[in-house]
Amino acid sequence: MYPSLAILLLMALSTTTHLANAHGIMAFPIIRMLPQDQQNGYTYAKGATNVNLPPHPNFDKLCNYLPPGPVFTQTLKGGPLIVDWTISAFHRGGCTVSISRDQQKSWEIIGSNATCGIPTTPGMKGTGQIPVTLPQGNYSAVLRWSYVADNGGQPENEAFSSCADIVVNDSGSNKHVFYDVLPTSAGASDSALPKTPWQYFDSSCKPGAFQCSSKSVFINQCISLAASGTYNGGSGWYQYACPFNTTCQGTGPNAYCK
Ligand SMILES: *[C@@H]1O[C@H](CO)[C@@H](O)[C@H](O)[C@H]1NC(C)=O
Ligand SMILES: *[C@@H]1O[C@H](CO)[C@@H](O)[C@H](O)[C@H]1NC(C)=O
Ligand SMILES: *[C@@H]1O[C@H](CO)[C@@H](O)[C@H](O)[C@H]1NC(C)=O
Ligand SMILES: *[C@@H]1O[C@H](CO)[C@@H](O)[C@H](O)[C@H]1NC(C)=O
Repeated sequence: MYPSLAILLLMALSTTTHLANAHGIMAFPIIRMLPQDQQNGYTYAKGATNVNLPPHPNFDKLCNYLPPGPVFTQTLKGGPLIVDWTISAFHRGGCTVSISRDQQKSWEIIGSNATCGIPTTPGMKGTGQIPVTLPQGNYSAVLRWSYVADNGGQPENEAFSSCADIVVNDSGSNKHVFYDVLPTSAGASDSALPKTPWQYFDSSCKPGAFQCSSKSVFINQCISLAASGTYNGGSGWYQYACPFNTTCQGTGPNAYCK
């Protein structure tokens, strides 16, 4: 059996897209998200902030133009933390993790990997970890992962960034499950999201509402963002993993992880 012409054309097209548009995202801690972007395969979150990101809100470019929002990750603790990333098209280059404790006025680098963009095994997708040290204390902060490719061929190297709003204190925990709503292996489909329940696609959800997914390790939270910049505003369900060793419980808008 030979692949059909249509499939070959599709493969050629997607290869072209990948070459023109590398993709990267922080997978843990859990990042700010544009409403409906997860349902769209994280297309916005994985876009290059400096070259080809689609119409976007008008907040800090370093956080992918997304404003501060809900804290999706459990309370963390000062000390060693592992940051996970997924790159869906490697283009050499390196990754940096930084933290801002003053509402994104200044950033402190707390970890990096100068070769994160070089795949250890051939393939277009992969994941990795960057060990960092979270400053001790009781505070709220923004954790930022950035990936700057080294692919030439663009006006400038493509840069990607994800931000997570976090809370750190002495009773927190840095344990986490992998954020496996994302493809983790070369060739895995970007659409392999647990798109359940069907309301996952509901764009009229009430901001702040929760609901359990059919897989109890996930919870859905309704997020919304007002129009700004070239973004028209909207809302949608955001599905993410419950903290380590907890599952989604309860029904309806009051679901919670415990
Ligand atoms: C950098 O990341 C790559 C890919 O995940 C990994 O193989 C390598 O060991 C990392 N380097 C360091 C110094 O951590
Ligand atoms: C964090 O807050 C707790 C409770 O108020 C306090 O005991 C602890 O000393 C604080 N830790 C730091 C590093 O400030
Ligand atoms: C740590 O943060 C959690 C969640 O925000 C809060 O309930 C708890 O009181 C905090 N503990 C300390 C010691 O600050
Ligand atoms: C958390 O999960 C680990 C690994 O599955 C298990 O060994 C441990 O007992 C769990 N802890 C609690 C408090 O449930």
